[in-house]
Amino acid sequence: MRILFLDQSGELGGAELCLLDVAKPYRDHSVVALLADGPFRAALEQHQIPVQVLTARSLQIRKQSGLWQGLSSLRQLLPLAVRVSQLSQGFDLIYANTQKALVVGALASGLGRRPLVYHLHDILSEEHFSSVNRRLAVLLANQFAAQVITNSEATRSAFVAAGGQSRLTSVIYNGFDPATYQAADRDVVRRSLGLTGFVVGQFSRLSPWKGQHVLLEALTNCSADVTALFVGSALFGEQEYAQQLQAQVTALGLQDRVRFLGFRSDVIPLMHACDLVAHTSTAPEPFGRVIVEAMLCGRPVVASAAGGAIELVESGSTGWLVPPNDPQALAAAIREAQAQPDTASAIGDRAQQQASQRFDLLTIQRQIAEQLQQVSQGKPVGNPAPCRDPP
Ligand code: UDP
Ligand code: GLC
Repeated sequence: MRILFLDQSGELGGAELCLLDVAKPYRDHSVVALLADGPFRAALEQHQIPVQVLTARSLQIRKQSGLWQGLSSLRQLLPLAVRVSQLSQGFDLIYANTQKALVVGALASGLGRRPLVYHLHDILSEEHFSSVNRRLAVLLANQFAAQVITNSEATRSAFVAAGGQSRLTSVIYNGFDPATYQAADRDVVRRSLGLTGFVVGQFSRLSPWKGQHVLLEALTNCSADVTALFVGSALFGEQEYAQQLQAQVTALGLQDRVRFLGFRSDVIPLMHACDLVAHTSTAPEPFGRVIVEAMLCGRPVVASAAGGAIELVESGSTGWLVPPNDPQALAAAIREAQAQPDTASAIGDRAQQQASQRFDLLTIQRQIAEQLQQVSQGKPVGNPAPCRDPP
């Protein structure tokens, strides 16, 4: 099948890392068109996935854009949509992977009469998007998409609550190749980074809703041998938050207990070096790749109980769930994991076993292939066979 994938970002965010795996099986006859250049292009090229950057300037619409800003960006959008509709003539379908890609892809699909699939990675709630952007997303999806793939039940429900048509949706989780998460030499990694004591890792881009500040606050309620490792950078222009975090470290006197490594491409060995992985989002996480990655590494996880995270972790069995934005509860979970290493280790083992089954990349690629096949043949799309339930 020939697919024109569309993504707005040149950065390596979770939606882009997911697309890398979705696009691989189609690389011989497909193209990923990007609305901005960046390291994502290099990652696609590294995997021999043809890529084309359509614009040097990123689009002006922001997640919180109002009506006027949205309308004024039409000047930028329309020529792009025309270009994409022309490009799409050589393909069986357009696959929009992000919000701005949906806007361009929907117009192009209307102009060029190519079916549109929308992979929705975001929770369309007011915490994440302005009401204009939410309305625009559901309007375009309802009008133009033959299929809306959502990355969790939480994402699906929010789409429907915002006015999206339920019959268009199917839930397909992100897929992972369990073999790539095999044990790294934990002691070597720890030594090379000079890590000592009980290490809590947080692997996320630096952004207020990813809640790095909550972990810093929680550290003050843990024993002095608990340290935090932050892996990730401010990918989407949130440098001010990165500076606030540094100031918070100083204000709380945590300089000797906190490390910021910036963006890293070796997340797996770094996860193995941790005793616990903390997911600290303060708003509902649509899916949360880092949670599944930590599970696949066999590391115990403590996650914010909201959004997709609730579908990934069974609290007390395959991880811990704590209320979002609650440093006291997070600190209590860290103390529990530290005080009960056998329980933590059993939780990590169970999580690893379950995640390898539930999020297996080949199964998930097959589910997507079935959906795309039906769309390209103009058949009504049913929900995929559900991912296997936890044993
Ligand atoms: N990640 C990475 N390097 C970093 C920090 C994060 O490669 O320094 C990866 C991480 O392993 C995960 C993705 O970025 O696969 C983040 O995806 P997630 O779904 O957790 O959150 P998002 O940022 O997409 O909201
Ligand atoms: C988005 C979401 C994240 C999800 C990823 C992959 O970036 O914020 O929760 O894991 O897409 O679907």
